Amino acid sequence: APVVVAIDGPSGSGKSTVSRAVAARLGLSFLDTGAMYRAMTWWMLANEVDVTDAEAVAIACGKPVIVSGTDTDGPTITVDGVDVSGPIRGPEVTAGVSAVAAVPAVRSRLVELQRGCAAVAERGIVTEGRDMGTVVFPAATVKVFLTASEAARAGRRAAELRAKGVDEATIAAMAADLGRRDAADSSRTTAPLAQAADAVLVDTSELTLEQVIDTVVELVAQ
Ligand code: ADP
Ligand code: CDP
Repeated sequence: APVVVAIDGPSGSGKSTVSRAVAARLGLSFLDTGAMYRAMTWWMLANEVDVTDAEAVAIACGKPVIVSGTDTDGPTITVDGVDVSGPIRGPEVTAGVSAVAAVPAVRSRLVELQRGCAAVAERGIVTEGRDMGTVVFPAATVKVFLTASEAARAGRRAAELRAKGVDEATIAAMAADLGRRDAADSSRTTAPLAQAADAVLVDTSELTLEQVIDTVVELVAQ
């Protein structure tokens, strides 16, 4: 059967960067499931759906057509044919995404798309998010739970935003949002952020990116 590498963890633990690099090294597809929740949130905001109104979100969530590319050299995401890879990283979407991701109807719709992406990945897939190992791919070949201290995670995210030229006020607001989002993602009823019983815990606080990538590649090779 094709390989499924399921990577979960809190914000800024290195999931996207590590997963993409592991997929490139092993010739596998790559899926960023957080981008799908962000794309759904972007559509809700663009269509003036109140993201804090779970019922309104549940009713509307069947409408947008979300398509994720799984190529490691340039993962793409479109909503109704529009490339949203830039706007989904902005502060408005980041502030609203946890509320949208807590709605069960949103999750069941996106989980189906995620399993569809894995089913068509010829050689296998590295997929990252919050519930890959616990809910979406319970039979994954390898499960990894990436973590890092909150200070390390916030520092990495700030450095990344600074390198993109984002202003300091926005960086501070997004750093404050990181802790709030992790708490919301961990405490929701449906598919909370959690380490699967059979996942390998990797604390990346004191590791370089290369060390983390090597660790995951070795786990897949075993
Ligand atoms: P996540 O997908 O978990 O939110 P990212 O992959 O976006 O995390 O990583 C956040 C930032 O931290 C990126 O800029 C990445 O290059 C950096 N990073 C990730 N892992 C490490 C590490 N072990 N050491 C240093 N920086 C890292
Ligand atoms: O990149 P960052 O870690 O900041 O977040 P992300 O991976 O892009 O995910 C954005 C949000 O989507 C998370 O805060 C969760 O609320 C939600 N999410 C989820 O609920 N389940 C997933 N499998 C992936 C993301």
